[in-house]
This record gives sequence, structure tokens and C-alpha cells, in this order.
Amino acid sequence: MPRPRVTVIGAGNVGATAAQRIGELGAAVVLVDIVEGLPQGKALDLAQAAPVVGQDVQIIGTNDYADTAGSDVIVVTSGLARQPGMSRDDLMSKNAGIVRSVVQQSVAHSQDAILVIVTNPLDAMCHVAMEASGFPRERVIGMAGVLDSARFRTFIAQELGVSVASTSAFVLGGHGDTMVPLPRYSTVGGVPITELLSAGTIERIVDRTRNGGAEIVALLKTGSAYYAPGASVAQMVDAIVGNRQMILPCAAYLQGEYGVDGLFVGVPVRLGRRGMEEVIEIELTDDERAAFDRSAAAVRELVDRLAEMAAASSTAAAPAAG
Ligand code: APR
Repeated sequence: MPRPRVTVIGAGNVGATAAQRIGELGAAVVLVDIVEGLPQGKALDLAQAAPVVGQDVQIIGTNDYADTAGSDVIVVTSGLARQPGMSRDDLMSKNAGIVRSVVQQSVAHSQDAILVIVTNPLDAMCHVAMEASGFPRERVIGMAGVLDSARFRTFIAQELGVSVASTSAFVLGGHGDTMVPLPRYSTVGGVPITELLSAGTIERIVDRTRNGGAEIVALLKTGSAYYAPGASVAQMVDAIVGNRQMILPCAAYLQGEYGVDGLFVGVPVRLGRRGMEEVIEIELTDDERAAFDRSAAAVRELVDRLAEMAAASSTAAAPAAG
């Protein structure tokens, strides 16, 4: 049987880590970057790890999108990290430009692919990717919730001294400090953590989950997290190419679900060969609903800001009248 073909754009920390895991799942990986030599070098290094782990990994590195033709899944991790002195707006518009360009170039060779977006600010970049690809919502999915819930599960397991395998966690909303971890639906061995941990402890680990990315940036100083993001991407890719119908929290384009229309927000979805096969709606309490609405409003603000910036730059670029 031919291997599923997965393109990973961006051969930086997240892209290379994801590529390693996806390759070890058995997919044929094409690693792409704008920097010459970088994807080729990393792909060669990853291929040379294969004999050690005893797997026939198939991976190539390239700067040419023609090599990505016929991909089943395209993972987008390319982008810039925030530099000192760079505003949030600046970063957003630069990454929007990068995401737009790599999505256009890659989908031109893979019209049926499923896009998994990783570049931050995530929810806004999903909008850019959907627009740039013209793909239906089923085939544009953002990676955030798997990572956020993995962080939550890590802290739950550490708190209770149990295996992470016995934990499950539920996180809704945008990828950022307004995300909404739901303790009521987060369990250890099927028991909600609200029965196992004090309200104060839950609040502390919920907060730590919300700041999970920032905590790592503060420690690393020169970059952001990549092992857990890479693993999270690989799980989503596995669910898609393996047609697993897994329920995972992902950024999905809502069309009325959860009372939200026309916005990417983190919700539980069913992932399979067709991409986002279903948005799973759950009942929320009034407090949870209010937190979800706040989070969706923060995403809306970001997306509106991006549209404003795009409009301003196209006006600036247009020739002066008269
Ligand atoms: N085309 C292709 N690759 C590009 C382009 C482009 N136009 N612009 C930048 N890149 C590549 C860079 O050359 C770099 O190798 O994207 C890669 C980004 O890698 P890192 O800087 O190591 O960033 P990383 O830690 O992998 O994070 C990537 O994922 O989690 C998010 O916030 C994170 O948005 C960031 C993204």
C-alpha cells in the first residue's frame, strides 16, 4: 500500500520535530523551508536516525513546492518568532504573509490535501489559510487544543501522581490566555477532577495550562516549545491519515455551532480521512459559556485586526488617485 504523503512546511523546531514523529508513523514526509539546505540537512539527519530505530522512514527535504505534489496532509509551521521590539501586530502581519504564500504555493500542487495549521497566532492564521486555499472548512484545521489539553493532563497527572495515560482533559476556546480548560469534563480514570482535586488546586493548574507556552518561552529565552507541539501535530496527522475518527480538540471554523458563526475557535472535533468530519457540541454551564464567549470575542478581535491591517496595506499599496 502506498504511504500517505505528508508535507511539513517550516523545517524549524516544530516542523522538524513533527516530521520525525510523522515519518516514524510510516508516512512519506516532505520537509520544506525557504532557507536553502535546512530542510535537506534535517531530512538527511532524520533519515539516518531510521536504521537506529529500525524503521524504513521515508523523508526528503526541499525548497521546491513541486516536490510536495499529491500530499494528503500539509502541515504549516513556517513563520517568524517574535523578535525584541516587534509588536504583536507586526508579527501577525508578517506571519499572515508567510502563511498565505506557503499555503498558495503548496495547495497548487495538492488540491485535495488537508491543511493542519500550527503557526501563531493560531486562530488568525487558520483564517488566512482558509482564505488562501479556498478549501472548505473540513480541510482546514488548527493545532492548539491537543497541545493545551496535553499540558493540562501533564499537570493533572503530576498533581495526583498517576499515569498520564489515565488522564483526559478538555480545553475549549482560542489558543491563548483566554483558552477555557473545562475541569468538569477532565477526568482521571473516568472520574472528573472536580471530585479529586480542591478548587484552589484546579485553579492553579488551569492557570498554568493557560500560560503553558509563556512558561516555556521564559525558560528557553531564545525560542518557544516544540516537543509537545510536534507530538500534537503528529497525533492529528495520524488521526487523519489513519481515518481514526478520533475526538480531539482542534481549532475549527464554526458555522453556528456553540453560537459562533464564521470564526476559528477550539472545540472538540472528530478527525478522519476527510479532515474535520464533525464538530462535537457539548452543554456548557453559564460560567463556562461566558468564558467561551470571551475567548471567541478575543479571536474575533484578532481576526478583525488582521483584516484592518490587510485593508490598510492594500490602500497604501494602491496607486494614488489622480
Ligand atoms: N517559507 C517556508 N519556510 C519559512 C518561511 C517561508 N516563507 N518563512 C519562514 N520559514 C521557516 C524558517 O526558515 C524556519 O525554519 O519557518 C521555520 C520556523 O521555525 P522556527 O523559527 O524554529 O519556529 P518554531 O519554533 O518551529 O515555531 C514555528 O509554530 O508553534 C508555532 O509560534 C510558533 O509560529 C511559530 C511556529
